[in-house]
Amino acid sequence: MADKHLVAGLESFQLEVKNLNQAKTFYREVFGLEFAGPPMTGSTLFRANGTTHHVVELVEGKRSRFVGIELSTSSRSAVDILVGRLGDAGFSISHPPALLSDVTGGGYGATVEGVEGLRIQLVYGRVSHSHVLEDRTKPLCLTHVVLNSNEFERQINFFIGILGFRVSDITERMTFLRCGADHHTIALAHGDSMSLNHAAFAMEDFDSLMYGSGRLLEFGHAIEWGPGRHGPGNNVFCYFIDPEGFAVEYTTDMDQVDESYEVGSAEYWTNFPKRPCRWGVAGKPSEKLAMAFAGKGLIND
Ligand SMILES: [Fe+2]
Repeated sequence: MADKHLVAGLESFQLEVKNLNQAKTFYREVFGLEFAGPPMTGSTLFRANGTTHHVVELVEGKRSRFVGIELSTSSRSAVDILVGRLGDAGFSISHPPALLSDVTGGGYGATVEGVEGLRIQLVYGRVSHSHVLEDRTKPLCLTHVVLNSNEFERQINFFIGILGFRVSDITERMTFLRCGADHHTIALAHGDSMSLNHAAFAMEDFDSLMYGSGRLLEFGHAIEWGPGRHGPGNNVFCYFIDPEGFAVEYTTDMDQVDESYEVGSAEYWTNFPKRPCRWGVAGKPSEKLAMAFAGKGLIND
C-alpha cells in the first residue's frame, strides 16, 4: 500500500524548446514569470511570484518536446523510499538519490523514468526564495499539469500505487489526481502517446487572472478558451498557447478537498449541467487549443 504522504507537491515541469530566446521572452515578459538563479548555457529556470525556487525549466533542443515533471517529497527519506519502490517495480533510475547542484537550487533528489518514459525528478530540501514577488497580475505558482497517455491504466497505477496520489474525479477523457488539498495536481488524459496536455499556473484571484489575461492579449496571444469555470475542480480558467505550441493555463479558485471528497464518476460528469463550463459562457476550446491539448500543435508538427 502506497504512503500517501511521500509526495508533497508539484514543483516544476521541463520543456525542450527549439527557440529558447523566443520562449524565454514569452514566459518572462508575456506570461509573467521571472528568471530563477544565475544564467546557464542552453537552459533557463523560471520562478513565479511565490517562493518555490523554480516552476519551469526550458532547455534548448532540436525540437519542441515535453520532458518531464518534478515532484517535491515530504522528507529526504521519502526520496529514498520512493526510489526503492520504483526500482523494485522495475523502473529505471536514471540518477540515484544524491545532493543536487546549487545552480538549480540544491536539495536532495533522484530522477526516474516512469511509464511511457515520463521523466520524474523527486526532490527534497531545495532552497526557496527569501521573498515573494508583488505583482498580482502574474502567477503565484505552478498548480497542476495534465498529461496525455497511451498507457492510461499503467499511468494511473503508477501515480496511485507507487507515488501515493489519490483520485478526485473521473471523466470520460481524464482522471484527476491529487497529492494535497488542491482538487488536482496531476490529471491524466487518454491520448496517442505521452505528451503535455497543458500546464496550469495559479493566479491570486479572478481579478488577477483577468489582468494577466489582458497582458497576454496585449502581446497578441489570444485567449484560446475562457474565461470559464471547470466542472471537476471548479477552478476558473483561461488558456493560451506558448510560442512552441504548448498549452498553458491561468487558473484560480480551485476546490480544496480532503479524504471526505466523493469521487465523481464519468457518468456523473457526463450528465453535469452546462458542461464543460459551469457558467455556460466559455464554449469550447479553439481548434488550435484542441490540437495543443492533444500534444499535436508543437512547432515541429
Ligand atoms: Fe487545467
